[in-house]
Amino acid sequence: MRRTGSLMRRARQNRGKNKERYILPIIKLKKRLMKFFIDTADLEQIKEANDLGILDGVTTNPSLMAKVGVKGHEAVIQHYKTICDIVDGDISAEVVSTDFKGIVEEGKKLAALHKNIVVKVPMIKDGVKAIKWFTDNGIRTNCTLVFSAGQAILAAKAGAAYVSPFIGRIDDSGWEGINLISQIAEIYAVQGFETEILAASIRSSNHIIQCAEAGADVVTSPLEPILGLLKHPLTDIGLAKFLEDAKKFA
Ligand code: E4P
Repeated sequence: MRRTGSLMRRARQNRGKNKERYILPIIKLKKRLMKFFIDTADLEQIKEANDLGILDGVTTNPSLMAKVGVKGHEAVIQHYKTICDIVDGDISAEVVSTDFKGIVEEGKKLAALHKNIVVKVPMIKDGVKAIKWFTDNGIRTNCTLVFSAGQAILAAKAGAAYVSPFIGRIDDSGWEGINLISQIAEIYAVQGFETEILAASIRSSNHIIQCAEAGADVVTSPLEPILGLLKHPLTDIGLAKFLEDAKKFA
């Protein structure tokens, strides 16, 4: 259902105008619920999101690791292990090598840490080649730093489990990042690619809602935008009134 949204909308708009155009392509429908990952290496925030009961996984990157002061190879490895102990879901661990051999060696070691580790590989030539190698060898990957539909097609062809389009960074450069999610969702639906769209570089609660509408399979977000989904002033006003009235019959 998810990736057929825009196709069905278009079909509905055309209904009656031109009967011959009211034809939906044959699409393999997938039944999915959008997953929530947290995009941080901050253990307290990971625990807080996990305690909410809605967390499906974690994404990290070298910048997020540096932000929480994790330094040195051993510390990074230990940090991934700790995250795997907290969250029962896919944990993306990013390689820092940029050549095929280095990416494969690094990725194999990361994947061996825990069954839930997904090796995060950059969208570069050797990265695509490495993703294919990992796919052929049963190691799941998350293709990161994706900014175009063409890159998303390559990642899917190589067999990436996840593709990470960075919508916030596209917004930052003056374009509509969310459009890329819709475009990839449509292409994957039409072509039947199994790669899951992991919307990344989330800046706001509204981004999360837009990603759900556009057909993302996963949204990875910092804690703030996730908690922002809870908020509505009418909820606060309504609750205050209910609690006040409850005192009347207490
Ligand atoms: C996640 O996998 C990405 O590395 C992350 O969402 C990037 O976010 P940023 O653009 O806020 O750095």
